[in-house]
Amino acid sequence: MRSLSAILVVCACAPAEGGEFLEQLRADGYRAFARAPGWETPRSPAQGGPHGDFLDLYVDDTVSEAVAAAVPLSAWPDGALIVKDAWADADGEDLRFVAAMEKRDGRWFWAEYRDDDDVVVESFDAPQCTGCHDAGDDGVLAFALP
Ligand code: HEC
Repeated sequence: MRSLSAILVVCACAPAEGGEFLEQLRADGYRAFARAPGWETPRSPAQGGPHGDFLDLYVDDTVSEAVAAAVPLSAWPDGALIVKDAWADADGEDLRFVAAMEKRDGRWFWAEYRDDDDVVVESFDAPQCTGCHDAGDDGVLAFALP
């Protein structure tokens, strides 16, 4: 039984069903979050990412506070959440993907959804994301650690 309860604990941390994290992000109103440093302009042109040509990049309070504190960091703190609306067009009418990364227990949880809410990825182990993101500042490509 010990191993079973260990499995249940692990499962409690991850979304029970596909898309639950996206629902949580929407319930939290991520589009009212602060915009990421350097990404203050709505639908900024992408910098080479595969997600979409025009981006809205939002960060939660944990990231905002880490940036504002300007204390040199070697890693983004737990709770850090970055959400990206990736659009095909500059007018923000044609959403391609919603991508998100959240720091939990020292690891990034990766998530990406299509415009119809279909789950592309919801995982701590996402080589299809880390293949590029490992090159970033603790996994983040769009802006630097303070
Ligand atoms: C081909 C390389 C590549 C792959 C693969 C990739 N990304 Fe990205 N990603 C980028 C780049 C470059 C940026 C910077 C902004 C931009 O141009 O899109 C970025 C930005 C992001 C951001 C905004 C925060 C940051 O790190 O800059 C999130 C969130 C994100 N990606 C999530 C994901 C997820 C989830 C996956 C896997 C499903 C993924 N990415 C796969 C290249 C990649």
